[in-house]
Amino acid sequence: MARIYAGLTTSHVPAIGAALDNGKAQDPYWRPLFQGYEFAQQWIRDNPPDVVILVYNDHATAFSLEIIPTFALGCAEEFAPADEGWGPRPVPVVKGDARFAAHIAQSVILDEFDLTIVNKMDVDHGLTVPLSLVFGAPAAWPCRVIPLPVNVVMYPAPTGNRCFNLGRALRKAVESYPQDLRVMVWGTGGMSHQLQGPRAGLINQPWDARFLDSIGPDPQALVRIGHLEYLREAGSEGIELVMWLIMRGALDDNVRTVRRFYHVPASNTAVGHLILENCEP
Ligand code: DHB
Ligand code: FE
Repeated sequence: MARIYAGLTTSHVPAIGAALDNGKAQDPYWRPLFQGYEFAQQWIRDNPPDVVILVYNDHATAFSLEIIPTFALGCAEEFAPADEGWGPRPVPVVKGDARFAAHIAQSVILDEFDLTIVNKMDVDHGLTVPLSLVFGAPAAWPCRVIPLPVNVVMYPAPTGNRCFNLGRALRKAVESYPQDLRVMVWGTGGMSHQLQGPRAGLINQPWDARFLDSIGPDPQALVRIGHLEYLREAGSEGIELVMWLIMRGALDDNVRTVRRFYHVPASNTAVGHLILENCEP
């Protein structure tokens, strides 16, 4: 059967993609950031997934403000990098797993999480920057990727608790798929950041540290964080962190935190990154 063996979280700052694509990764500003992902690049070579369920948010790229699905699932065979205004990123097309995604949709929807099924979609920096950080710049992405977009762009965004429970439902879906597949779930976005208004540039390092420290051993301490606390403490875009809770809900109760990385500055965002391994055999 398919099995989730680990989860990974990472911020998805679009300027990271631009730095990579324009040959700036060795610049003094960016070098420490990219060095922070060398562990993940080696770890994933040692522990390669067949499929990544990649939880991210679309930034009004594939979905305009005309239609805003709260939770969606990419069920297509492939997903092209989106043109976000300066041409698509020069990264490989993302290969999906249409059969597995259809199974996940069936299982999760019958479990009363009504995902929007998406059969055609381009993917923006929310999905491609995490792939670049973890896999570098290969000619083709080394695994299949099932995109799971979450609305954190327009209120009402889903609650952290709802996200955690969706993770639980995802796990059931994966474990009821008969094919032997090694599956990872990635939760992307965050950490504290605010891109607009008088508080633009807000970073809250103690708050981020608590989030990073708790999500492995004590996710229940995080699932009740409300939208107002995200907004007040983590800035207007800090709400992206609810997506990390989908990843966490899909893992075992007991996990090992094998990587923790936190870095400021990266554009306007506090960059956080974790790898959590399942403990149950
Ligand atoms: C930035 C961060 C984001 O998460 C995003 O979607 C856009 C911009 C930034 O820090 O610049
Ligand atoms: Fe974002």
